[in-house]
Amino acid sequence: MIKVAPSILSADFVNLEHDVRSLGKTGVDYVHVDVMDGNFVPNITVGIPVVAAIKRISPLPLDVHLMIERPIRYVSQFIRAGADLLTIHVEADTAEQTRRALEQIRALGAHPSLSLKPGTPAEAVLPYLPLCDMILVMTVEPGFGGQRFMSDMIPKLKAIRGWIDEIKPDCELEVDGGVNIQTASICRENGANVLVTGSAYFHSPAPSAFVRTVKGGLVARS
Ligand code: DX5
Ligand code: ZN
Repeated sequence: MIKVAPSILSADFVNLEHDVRSLGKTGVDYVHVDVMDGNFVPNITVGIPVVAAIKRISPLPLDVHLMIERPIRYVSQFIRAGADLLTIHVEADTAEQTRRALEQIRALGAHPSLSLKPGTPAEAVLPYLPLCDMILVMTVEPGFGGQRFMSDMIPKLKAIRGWIDEIKPDCELEVDGGVNIQTASICRENGANVLVTGSAYFHSPAPSAFVRTVKGGLVARS
């Protein structure tokens, strides 16, 4: 099953309650929350109190994407705040701490997930795959919404899909960055089953139809 996870980075922060509640009506599956620390990426977004506030009103599981240095420091706080899936970056700490963080996420009752930046080779996830419930392949340089999809990430996506099928078939494969109706179909064809979409979703005039199409339904004629 293809899942859609709108990134609230492109929501209207003045009307965040409205935008989060509306996600319950358009057929999406997760709420994607991008946490940036101005260090791991050159941008700062939201943190633990905002995740907790979204949790109070969210009709859907929270897919929290940590773009922060040494995420192990904050794993338990984000899970306490309500993260259901918690993604850390493979580039954000040592191998030992990355492994520990993934184990801690599971021990605290959330789904551990690992992400790679565009410049990181696919092989980087291999040692951690048995510990993960999701792998997140970045298809833009993390930091900002509204960027162009990097189609040169497709071989990486395909390779990771192959390893997931072999080693951990129940692991989800998520793509994040520049996903719209056109690029969604490329992602689905190459093995992604969770599609993050920020600007394309929140700028869509008809989000429910957009979600159906992104999931692979027929494109509505206009
Ligand atoms: C980028 C974030 C993405 C981003 C997606 O660092 O991780 O989740 O908000 O936004 P779009 O779909 O606009 O590329
Ligand atoms: Zn993200």
